[in-house]
Amino acid sequence: MVIQSLLIFFLAAIAPVSAESGIDAWLRYARLPGSVTRGHLNSFPNRIVVLNASKNGPLASASSELHKGIQGILGLDLDVSSSGKSCSAQNTIVVSTLETYQSSCGKLSPKLNLKEDGYWLSAKGKSVQIIGQNERGALYGAFQYLSLLAQGDFSEVAYASNPSAPVRWANQWDNLNAATAAHGSIERGYGGASIFFNNGLIKDDLSRVPLYGRLLASVGINGIIINNVNADANLLNETNLAGVKRIADLFRPWGVKVGISLNFASPQVLGALTTFDPLDSTVIKWWTDKTNRIYQLVPDFAGYLVKANSEGQPGPLTYNRTLAEGANLFAKAIEPHGGIVVFRAFVYDQLNETNWRADRANAAVQFFKDLDGQFDSNVLVQIKFGPIDFQVREPASPLFANLPKTAVSIELQVTQEYLGQQCHLVYLPPLWQTILGFDMRYNHRQSYVRDIVSGEVFNHKLGGYAGVINVGMDDTWIGSHLAMSNMFAFGRLAWNPQADSQDIIEEWTRLTFGLSRDVISAIVDMSMKSWPAYEGYSGNLGIQTLTDILYTHYGANPASQDNNGWGQWTRADSKTIGMDRTVSNGTGNAGQYPKDVADKFEHTQTTPDDLMLWFHHVPYTFKLHSGKTVIQHFYDAHYSGAATVQKFPATWKSLKGQVDAERYVDVLYRLQYQAGHSLVWRDGISEFYRNLSSIPDKLNRVRNHPHRIEAEEMELSGFTTVNVSPTECASKYKAIATNGTGTATTKLNVPSGKYTVAINYYDVMGGSASYDVLLNGKSIGTWKGDSENYLGHDFSTFLDCHSAIRITFEDVKISRGDKLTIKGTGDAQEQAAIDYVAVLPQGVVD
Ligand SMILES: *[C@@H]1O[C@H](CO)[C@@H](O)[C@H](O)[C@H]1NC(C)=O
Ligand SMILES: *[C@@H]1O[C@H](CO)[C@@H](O)[C@H](O)[C@H]1NC(C)=O
Ligand SMILES: *[C@@H]1O[C@H](CO)[C@@H](O)[C@H](O)[C@H]1NC(C)=O
Ligand SMILES: *[C@@H]1O[C@H](CO)[C@@H](O)[C@H](O)[C@H]1NC(C)=O
Ligand SMILES: *[C@@H]1O[C@H](CO)[C@@H](O)[C@H](O)[C@H]1NC(C)=O
Ligand SMILES: *[C@@H]1O[C@H](CO)[C@@H](O)[C@H](O)[C@H]1NC(C)=O
Ligand SMILES: *[C@@H]1O[C@H](CO)[C@@H](O)[C@H](O)[C@H]1NC(C)=O
Repeated sequence: MVIQSLLIFFLAAIAPVSAESGIDAWLRYARLPGSVTRGHLNSFPNRIVVLNASKNGPLASASSELHKGIQGILGLDLDVSSSGKSCSAQNTIVVSTLETYQSSCGKLSPKLNLKEDGYWLSAKGKSVQIIGQNERGALYGAFQYLSLLAQGDFSEVAYASNPSAPVRWANQWDNLNAATAAHGSIERGYGGASIFFNNGLIKDDLSRVPLYGRLLASVGINGIIINNVNADANLLNETNLAGVKRIADLFRPWGVKVGISLNFASPQVLGALTTFDPLDSTVIKWWTDKTNRIYQLVPDFAGYLVKANSEGQPGPLTYNRTLAEGANLFAKAIEPHGGIVVFRAFVYDQLNETNWRADRANAAVQFFKDLDGQFDSNVLVQIKFGPIDFQVREPASPLFANLPKTAVSIELQVTQEYLGQQCHLVYLPPLWQTILGFDMRYNHRQSYVRDIVSGEVFNHKLGGYAGVINVGMDDTWIGSHLAMSNMFAFGRLAWNPQADSQDIIEEWTRLTFGLSRDVISAIVDMSMKSWPAYEGYSGNLGIQTLTDILYTHYGANPASQDNNGWGQWTRADSKTIGMDRTVSNGTGNAGQYPKDVADKFEHTQTTPDDLMLWFHHVPYTFKLHSGKTVIQHFYDAHYSGAATVQKFPATWKSLKGQVDAERYVDVLYRLQYQAGHSLVWRDGISEFYRNLSSIPDKLNRVRNHPHRIEAEEMELSGFTTVNVSPTECASKYKAIATNGTGTATTKLNVPSGKYTVAINYYDVMGGSASYDVLLNGKSIGTWKGDSENYLGHDFSTFLDCHSAIRITFEDVKISRGDKLTIKGTGDAQEQAAIDYVAVLPQGVVD
């Protein structure tokens, strides 16, 4: 009896109910249940032998990580040694580089063909070999082995694994001159303040850096650019370079090399030269000296990332020098040290929409095509996946097929700038794979983007992947537990771009949440549906995301796309919509692709529906391949996309008790928020195009909400009716607001029964308004406009589609004639503001 109760106590202690902050992400090494390990513990190796590890290098990390992981996952405390007659594989996990292994232990069979960073993993009963092409490769092999164990997979394996491309880097957009505001210090960061910088300096406390290095290494990321591409020259001063060295020292054990973004004007801004002309000898000397100094401090420095002549950044064009001359300036300085220069192709000018043929999507090819062959061999041109800017749907950038003589890499964005800013669940690999798996048909031959960026198609040694990953000080790293699957998947796809998106999310879920089938199927199901759903309720048919491009890039504001110089246009008018990118009558963008592809995109008959409005300007009544008109597709996609995410909260609630309380509550809050905000999106976009086109929804959903009570139509005291801008961000275009206290009351004329009461209100920056909803004078729920305490997206100071938010109360018993009152009290800069109340019968979403 005693034993049994002890056992129960023990099980309770390791059950998934203990709080999890997210800090260990997918490297939790949670103890496997006995039912999974049974029979395997006795036949497990009893020691780890690491051969010839360099001090504080990746091999040493591999060994300590294996020890820690096996202790966590299996409860076994293995001996660790770095000596002895270690070649015997009996009872041993051997970890080594290939070179050391072969010189100490003889040839390995089969003969291995390992590329840089690759590994061999063989696990057969009590004998495990983890052999890396280099130390980094051995570390990757160790993480792979631990992933198998953590998933309860004890099957015998023996295989070599090589990365698809040599450059697999994280790009941080951390500002050196961090604002004091938690969210201000990282451009497009939604997970708190920088882990690197504070007030223009490298932080003293860099304790998050090795933890981040460990996460990056575990998915094969081998480099990181630590600062924003809109770079501060002060990073290059002596104080900060000493800090860069400290950061590099902390990443080194994880095989993550450090690089930095450069400000092109540094010689002038920081060095007090009169010029930053890349061909000027004083400038060349300045960069050469600076580079030599950096390598003194950081001998394995990865290289430079450069954003030049883009969005106001200085660059070589100021001196009539070419972008290639600009890139080569750094390439020559860094070449003797073995570093590389990554030069971003994100260069474009402001344009005037009155010119039908102007097109920002053409810019990258226009700026770079003629420079092909002029870049030094240690320059990598980094190309955003699509021609514009990380939109919910874009074709692959044509530049991938226009630089055969130049090494290129692809820039993906893990941070969800235009895709819900980590407050909407959007699992991105299916989107990325539409690009990576796109066949450019260069010279009519198969040429997938993934094979172009690996260097294979055009035969380049360099090539690779950059992921814009804006981790911050938040325990969840990027602001959301579920969004971390994107970071994990970025690494997995950079290693193997043909990996299956669903396999990746399954692996991630097991590692992050354990082996419960319910949990796995729920998270996998939601994740796989999330990008199509987000595309459904945001921008369809290649019209871009339709977020507010002039402000937060968060909520809907389709009008913001047009009538400005940014070139993210839709050209929507009352009859037609879409960018004419044809050669015959439009911007000619289709013609930037190789002929097979160009021919396809030139004509509506051969353009896929999901890119129709990207390439063609058509009437709202244009019939798609699906048989639907453009406008009806908009309505249907918005309703079905929002309907999909309405189910997410209930799916998640079904996991109660199977997920620890801390993560359960946090994720539930976000999924409920997303469900509500998807309706703001649905209604905003549907209303906007309904108004513009004057074409009603065939299914009569748009503008028809029988269960809604407009706040402005309630009996008001202390509230005033206000206009909302854009108008489509309020139901019937108006809301009510108060800085003080107000009440809005209405009599409910519904059959007696149980209802869901949903209230759409606005939560702006600068205060926490409070609310109380009462039925016949009795409170059924209170809340505050304090979502900024839980969500990391960019907030708005206006009543608009960013601040619009919904709260729901379920199972409210209502009798016909009951009196519903909403009381609101403003706080500081935040007005209490309400759009409408929906009294919904069970299962109805209005
Ligand atoms: C041990 O590693 C060093 C490099 O860190 C290498 O020079 C040396 O040859 C290795 N020794 C053996 C026995 O492989
Ligand atoms: C380097 O720049 C930071 C501001 O980013 C400043 O605080 C520091 O004093 C500078 N150090 C030197 C040596 O100029
Ligand atoms: C660059 O060239 C343009 C025209 O060719 C000329 O007007 C301008 O002065 C030049 N600028 C510099 C900095 O040389
Ligand atoms: C765009 O071009 C039109 C027509 O030439 C002109 O009236 C307008 O001022 C231009 N807009 C900008 C922002 O330059
Ligand atoms: C051709 O371009 C003009 C603008 O130059 C545009 O108004 C017209 O709609 C386009 N025609 C077709 C068939 O797309
Ligand atoms: C409908 O669209 C027109 C422009 O086409 C705009 O002026 C008007 O304000 C819109 N109406 C509403 C209610 O949003
Ligand atoms: C609340 O105060 C602000 C700033 O004084 C003002 O702009 C706004 O109109 C007020 N709101 C209401 C509903 O009176």
